[in-house]
Amino acid sequence: MSIPVWAQLVYLAAAVCFILALKGLSGPKTARTGNLIGAVAAVVACALPFFYADLDHVPLILAAVAVGTAGGVYGARTVQMTQMPQMVALFNGVGGGAAALVALIELHEIVELSSAPGHDVGWFTLLATAFTILVGSVSFAGSVVTFAKLQELMTARPVVFPGLPVVFGAALIGSVVLSVLLIREPTMWLGVVLGLLGLLVGLLLVLPVGGADVPFVISLLNAFTGLTVAAGGYVLSNTLLLVAGTLVGASGTFLTLLMANAMGRSVSNIMFGALKGGSTLGSGVASDRPVKSANAEDIAILLAYAERVIIVPGYGLAVAQAQHTLRELVDVLGERGIEVDYAIHPVAGRMPGHMNVLLAEAQVPYEQLKEMDDINGDFKNADVCLVVGANDVVNPAAKTTPGAPIYGMPILNADEAKQVIFMKRSMRPGFAGIENELLFEPTTTLFFGDAKESLGKLLNAVKAL
Ligand code: TAP
Repeated sequence: MSIPVWAQLVYLAAAVCFILALKGLSGPKTARTGNLIGAVAAVVACALPFFYADLDHVPLILAAVAVGTAGGVYGARTVQMTQMPQMVALFNGVGGGAAALVALIELHEIVELSSAPGHDVGWFTLLATAFTILVGSVSFAGSVVTFAKLQELMTARPVVFPGLPVVFGAALIGSVVLSVLLIREPTMWLGVVLGLLGLLVGLLLVLPVGGADVPFVISLLNAFTGLTVAAGGYVLSNTLLLVAGTLVGASGTFLTLLMANAMGRSVSNIMFGALKGGSTLGSGVASDRPVKSANAEDIAILLAYAERVIIVPGYGLAVAQAQHTLRELVDVLGERGIEVDYAIHPVAGRMPGHMNVLLAEAQVPYEQLKEMDDINGDFKNADVCLVVGANDVVNPAAKTTPGAPIYGMPILNADEAKQVIFMKRSMRPGFAGIENELLFEPTTTLFFGDAKESLGKLLNAVKAL
């Protein structure tokens, strides 16, 4: 079916809006507008075929749109901030699955057309169809497993079994062979088996990944879905899908690489570390070495008489949901004339932008959020560095201990501050499972307890001074 010129122009405008949306999403101040531009463009693009195409099954399509809209609005309104990664995983998986199904329907038409004498579909269209079926299925199955891991519907630990690499390798080779067969002679059953094999590959790809690495896999699968949609756009001769899919594929790939770099690990280490035997992380054993600890009143004095304070938020802040109390504390310190900033590490927490989202929820002004490269030179001027539920992102082992799981990961220079205060519940290590030498430095003081409770006590103690 050919698309009229006016509709092609609207699609082009929507594609430009998607690019503007991505641009807007790259900064906290413009993110809302960016999101809105993208959403409006998506609605326009979805509505467009109703105006130019001769559609069959309109009531069914409208019913599907109604169900999808209701589910999406309900999910987006009710999801907790900490459950955002699973929500993204689910949306991503549905996108990949939908692209694979559309490609199967297209294959059905291709099979019928190819049976007509003298009709040649072209190998590239068949390649794009096979790719969409396979990678869309991988993305769907992989995303469902990531969702189950994050939602604790299954164990978050790496799931491996003897022979997994062999089965995985065989499934991959089988997928390539089936794709070649499908390109040579398209049949429906080849497409269906290819889709099923894709589901198996997706399952085996994600099962060995440990729970905390799952946000990384979500980003990778997101890139897969983007590429699938782009290939689907080629099969359907729809330029908008081609552009939108390419944008998602490219941004997902960038995000994946940025996250791997920020964690100081390679993509293959994250994806296949568990297959190579053993965990890619440290033992996770709590240290019994002596440390200096203090109570809220002592810490309050340190903070209240400082001139410059830098806060390092981490995963524990999200676990304790202590962002509002932290903001109150910072406001009180600000009223006392103390200069306070938040130092944001790119992989603090467990998902991209975790700390930005958390602190934005507590209405922390954007100007107080300083990225690692902008604030790292400033730690040496800080009287106090208050580390709230963070650990790995300030662990000097990243610079000093070759072989440590985080060796090579850029870290915040908290060790350069005159005093460092750690708020955590115990001596258990962070995500990387290794000891943090900074906890034992003479300039470091620990304030044990749940971050929300401890910050509440600290707030009262500072107010009482
Ligand atoms: P972590 O190194 O994981 O440290 C978190 C700290 O919070 C721990 O010391 C923990 O100690 C403490 N904590 C947990 N619950 C707490 C609570 N309720 N109250 C107070 N403290 C609490 O966190 P980080 O410094 O943010 O580093 C993030 C790590 O996750 C990095 O290794 C990164 O590579 C990895 N990672 C990040 C991402 C993304 S995209 N952000 C994705 C996957 C993995 P206690 O248990 O003793 O309280």
